[in-house]
Amino acid sequence: MKISTTDLEKYLQFALDTSYEAGEILLKFQKKRKELLIKDKGSEGIASEADIKSEELILSEIKKHYPKHNILSEEDFSRNKSKLITDANNIEFLWVVDPLDGTNNFVNGIPIYAVSIGLLHFGKPIVGVVYNPTSGECFLASKGRGAFLIDFRINPFKKHSLNQEENNKQMSECIFSPAPTYEKTKTFEEQLSVFKKNIIGCRAVRRLGSAALELCYVANGNFDGYWEKHLKPWDVAAAGLICLEANVHLTDFDGQNYTPFDHSILAAADPLHKRILGKIKA
Ligand code: IPD
Ligand code: CA
Ligand code: CA
Repeated sequence: MKISTTDLEKYLQFALDTSYEAGEILLKFQKKRKELLIKDKGSEGIASEADIKSEELILSEIKKHYPKHNILSEEDFSRNKSKLITDANNIEFLWVVDPLDGTNNFVNGIPIYAVSIGLLHFGKPIVGVVYNPTSGECFLASKGRGAFLIDFRINPFKKHSLNQEENNKQMSECIFSPAPTYEKTKTFEEQLSVFKKNIIGCRAVRRLGSAALELCYVANGNFDGYWEKHLKPWDVAAAGLICLEANVHLTDFDGQNYTPFDHSILAAADPLHKRILGKIKA
């Protein structure tokens, strides 16, 4: 069933309000970050008390407002996340939540982290919000209605439209945000040489440590390209829609159109996207 514009707006506003509230929780914990309890999740990274409290707030708001909707959230082990991912295309409404993207930055006091809330309709993103409470930057999008940036610290009602339809820059003018990838089957030298090959000739490389914000920075034109492997739906569900609505070309490393369930992601506007993809595939 098609979703009405009114409903889309309602879901977007809900995601915005909830991201803001979760951001307030993160800011509160950031003030006492040295006392944070931190859980080591092995190969899945770390989670802090702040991740958990932010998630509790977001999940309780979703359950209160949309009790019939499903939820896939990074730190929520009460549900079978793999099954939700497998079944996503058959689920009418699935909220996909990263209560704190950039936990490593957060626990080290680096002010680059975000709350990410996306809504999928039968597996396709229809709403996305990525909010960095420290900078006030909040990126948002709803399907077919564009992507925008607002600044909660200045004026949350002033929306800046995002549109990166074309990028004709030379490599020497580009700033990229690629993530070096850990591959069990490859030696460190092999991994480094792939990383090197892809960035040769560009002006600069910046790694933020929050996949959601890195994608949004492509949507906003701060970065010319971003690519990473082994991400999870909660890293890319909201930010992926923001890129698409900003006309950023989004694919996996094989050039297949983006879905929130891909294991690799490449974001750049055309025609630059094609050149980067060529290098990644070579
Ligand atoms: C991580 C960040 C990071 C990316 C990792 C993610 P988390 O998310 O987005 O930039 O490189 O793959 O797991 O653990 O901070 O939510
Ligand atoms: Ca994440
Ligand atoms: Ca997280």
